[in-house]
Amino acid sequence: MSESVKYQEFINQTAYYVKDRLRGCEGGHDWWHVYRVWRMAKHIAVKEKVDILVVELAALLHDIADSKFHNNDEEIGPYLSEQFLLKIGVEKATIEHVVSIIRNISFKNSFDKPAFYSKELAVVQDADRLDAIGAIGIARAFNFGGFKNRPLYDPDSPPKTKMTKEDYQKSDSPTLNHFYEKLLLLKDMMNTTTGKKIAKDRHRYLVKYLERFIKEWEGKL
Ligand code: ADP
Ligand code: NI
Repeated sequence: MSESVKYQEFINQTAYYVKDRLRGCEGGHDWWHVYRVWRMAKHIAVKEKVDILVVELAALLHDIADSKFHNNDEEIGPYLSEQFLLKIGVEKATIEHVVSIIRNISFKNSFDKPAFYSKELAVVQDADRLDAIGAIGIARAFNFGGFKNRPLYDPDSPPKTKMTKEDYQKSDSPTLNHFYEKLLLLKDMMNTTTGKKIAKDRHRYLVKYLERFIKEWEGKL
């Protein structure tokens, strides 16, 4: 088998596996979230000198067992990814790199000291963060809030600006607070030049949306 055919086989098999595993997941963490992150990661990667196989595999596998849907167990995702990649015959060094990305990509882990960094992690993390802002980011936040039966907004429940990882994971606050507790912070957490540029534009859209939301809430528009 030629290298490029082998490459395509790895990608196809992984996409097929992930799509199947994420069937029925919450709309903001489903196959289509992965699809968008995968596309965006490839777009960002064009401008960066990276191992594109690592980027694609990590983008595809980064949410196969999100810990917040698995009793905060942070080991299932990396474990399942490793087992799957071993089964399809991916090279060991590539597997190790992909698994390290999956372990370190999450926003909640940004509360801890970064344990691992690579250019490939930077690309996939930017792509994942971009899907949390802009028009899609708004849709995902309210979908997640609905999934958790949270209020849209509560003027008597202000956002918490200084949160620990535990506060963040336990947070039960209204969905609008999530914009202040996470989504508006992402613009300044981007790693790559391409990511920063797209984030700036999506951030502006969020700010405009929030202004309008509050005005409408108070009957001012
Ligand atoms: P990560 O998976 O990177 O640790 P999260 O799972 O916290 O990050 O966030 C992924 C997406 O899930 C967010 O961008 C948002 O759309 C949604 N989400 C997570 N927590 C909340 C919340 N408390 N309120 C609304 N949406 C949330
Ligand atoms: Ni994700």
